[in-house]
Amino acid sequence: MPVSQSTVHVINHLDRDYLRQALEADVRTGLTASPKWLPPKWFYDAAGSELFSRITRLPEYYPTRRELAILQARAADLAVACGADTLVELGSGTSEKTVLLLEALAAAGTLRAYTPVDVDAVTLESAARRVAGSFPGLDVRAVCADFERHLALLPRTGRRMVAFLGGTIGNLEPDARGVFLKELRATLRPGDTFLLGADLVKDTGRLVAAYDDAAGVTAAFNRNVLRVINRDLAADFDPEAFAHVAVYDARHDWIEMRLRASRDMRVRVGGLGLIVDFAEGEEMRTEISAKFRPDGLREELVAAGFEVRRRYTDPAGDFTLVLAGA
Ligand code: SAH
Ligand code: TRP
Repeated sequence: MPVSQSTVHVINHLDRDYLRQALEADVRTGLTASPKWLPPKWFYDAAGSELFSRITRLPEYYPTRRELAILQARAADLAVACGADTLVELGSGTSEKTVLLLEALAAAGTLRAYTPVDVDAVTLESAARRVAGSFPGLDVRAVCADFERHLALLPRTGRRMVAFLGGTIGNLEPDARGVFLKELRATLRPGDTFLLGADLVKDTGRLVAAYDDAAGVTAAFNRNVLRVINRDLAADFDPEAFAHVAVYDARHDWIEMRLRASRDMRVRVGGLGLIVDFAEGEEMRTEISAKFRPDGLREELVAAGFEVRRRYTDPAGDFTLVLAGA
C-alpha cells in the first residue's frame, strides 16, 4: 500500500441488541409518560439523516450556512490555536463542514487522524470513506456510538480537538447537557481542546421558520421517528395523522418540536406489547433545540471545567463557535 493511502476503520459500539434495548426502553418510557415524548436520537436512521441533509440546505435553516461561514473565516486560526493532530467529531453526520477544519489542520501541518462519531452507522461509514478519499494519508477511525453514553470509549491517542458542531448541543435537555459537558471534560487531557458550535437566541419568527419550513422537510423529518418505531418495534403509527408543530419557548430559550394527533387514535407497539391511545389534538414532544446567549454558554463551559480560549460569531450574530481548553 502506498504511504499516502488513507485507512478507514469502523468501530461499532451500537450492536443490534444494544440498539434494540435502548430503543425499547426509550419508547416505553416516553409513550407511557404524561405528556408523551420521544427522544431525538431515534430520528437518525438512514432516511432521517437524508432528511436532515435536506434541512441543512433549506432557505429557512440558517445554522448550517452561518457555521460554515465562521469556519471559512476562522478555521486557519482555530487549527493553529488548537495544534491538534487528531480531530474527533461528535454527531458528525455527513461531515460536510468538517472538511474545512481538516483542510486547516492539514495546512498547519499537524493533521494525522479523524474520528467521526455518530449513531447512524450508514451515514457515518459513507462520510468516513468520502473524507478518507480526499485526505491522502489520513487515519480515519469512525466510531458508531452514542455520545451520551460512550464518551469514555473514544480513542484518546494524539493531541485531540473534539468538535461538536451544528448546534446539536441544544438537543440535550439542560441537565443532560451539564452531565455531557462534565463527562467530555473528564476525557480530555492537557493540550486537548473542545470546539462547540451553538445557535444563538434571536428573532422568534426566524427561529420558528428554521424548524417549520415551507416545503415541509422538517415535518417529514419529525414524523420519521414514527416510521422508525413502526419498522423496528412493529408499531402501527399512521405518520400522516400527526401534524408537525414547532414552537419557541421563550422562558427556556428553546424550540420545541412536537407531533400533534389530528384525530383520536389507538396505536399498537407490537414489539413492546403496548397499546397507546392518543386524543385528537394531543401533542407529543419529540425534540428541543436550545438557543444560547454567549455569556450563558461560557458559564456552562466554565461550570464543566473548561477554559474558553476563542469565541467567534458570524457577522449577523446568528451562530457561535467556541474553542475551549481542558
Ligand atoms: N454535525 C452535523 C450533523 C448535525 S445533526 C452538522 O452540523 O450538520 C445531529 C447528528 O448527530 C446526526 O448525524 C445524528 O445522527 C447524530 N446524533 C444524534 N444523537 C446522537 C447521539 N446520542 N450520539 C451520537 N450521535 C448522535
Ligand atoms: N441540531 C439540529 C438543530 O437543533 C437538529 C435539527 C434541525 C432538528 N432541524 C431539526 C431536529 C428538526 C429535529 C427537528 O438545529
